[in-house]
Amino acid sequence: MKFNTKTIHGGQKHDPAYGAVMPPIYQTSTYAQTTPGGHKGFEYSRTHNPTRKALEDSFASIENGKFGLAFGSGLAAIDAVIKLLKPGDEVVSTNDLYGGTYRLFTKIFEDFGIKFHFIGMENADKVEDYVNENTKLIWVETPTNPMMNIIDIKAIAAISKKHNILLAVDNTFATPYLQRPLDLGADIVMHSATKYLGGHSDVVMGALIVKDSTLAERLYFIQNASGAVCGPQDSFLVLRGIKTLHIRMQRHCENGEAIAKYLKNHPKIEKVYWPGFEDHPNHEIAKAQMDGFGGMISFVTKGSDYDSAIKIVENLKFFTLAESLGGVESLAGHPASMTHASIPKEEREKTGVVDSLIRLSVGIEDINDLIADLEQAIG
Ligand SMILES: Cc1ncc(COP(=O)(O)O)c(C=O)c1O
Repeated sequence: MKFNTKTIHGGQKHDPAYGAVMPPIYQTSTYAQTTPGGHKGFEYSRTHNPTRKALEDSFASIENGKFGLAFGSGLAAIDAVIKLLKPGDEVVSTNDLYGGTYRLFTKIFEDFGIKFHFIGMENADKVEDYVNENTKLIWVETPTNPMMNIIDIKAIAAISKKHNILLAVDNTFATPYLQRPLDLGADIVMHSATKYLGGHSDVVMGALIVKDSTLAERLYFIQNASGAVCGPQDSFLVLRGIKTLHIRMQRHCENGEAIAKYLKNHPKIEKVYWPGFEDHPNHEIAKAQMDGFGGMISFVTKGSDYDSAIKIVENLKFFTLAESLGGVESLAGHPASMTHASIPKEEREKTGVVDSLIRLSVGIEDINDLIADLEQAIG
């Protein structure tokens, strides 16, 4: 089955009760049993729910995995991955990553005795310098949020295989429409399904997808034992979102390219971060591992500071000033004070997240309206 068919049919069956084409929202916490243990595969909705199961099967299908797991948020999904580890274990993580992931690692899991090494992974060889006998996980986000760095998944997978370490990839920015990390050697794919998979800014949800059945068992155990699951209504919404992922992503990519090029040629713009540019440091890797460059763009204007960046994002009309990304509507954000405020200033500035940086999630509106909006806001 090709990707554009998988988004609609992958892992899906018509509902056995009445043939409903979309899975009903099974708004139930529990299931009748004829005798203790005598049930139809579902006994309690923290453990399993038919609507969530349909979504989890869709996750597995679109990422070319075998097992999908849905969580109450992207961070709940990351939390489940780190719970595979024990005190004394070490993680090598990219240093340019979503601020909430950094906060979870440093403010929660470091207190449980897990050590994190945050490093730039643009040069994959550097990763091996941080691997020792305690290293159990490599955490990769690519493209990175918000600097749009590209990390070579295949090269990092070779290191993880050599040392028998798990490799997890946060595929939120690219989505499986553009990049399929399991095919490139990753063990775990993670999503903030809140973003492109849901696609309509109406749900908070997380996803994990794996191929290996032993790893899946461990993660299903954590999902049930820790209980950070999503409800059936949200499962239905994300499943509906996935059905248009391919056509939304096509337009996100087209609009993203047009805006990246517009900004690059703008006399008031200092720098545009977008992996589709030939002069992007890892453009060749992006070309090899992605099927397009997406709709996420960061930029700084010439001579700008905190206040002038804030003024631009406040002046935008079609780009709503808001946290999050990946919905049909365009959003603008100021990472230093919003998504990445939880990273100390000196740490975030090392990776380029300066006070003047603006991040755009380019939506699927008419491109002329979006460019006109940027024009009036930048001046
Ligand atoms: C790349 C990335 N990973 C993870 C998350 C966390 O996901 P959630 O907000 O669904 O918990 C986000 C949220 O912005 C994100 O952008």
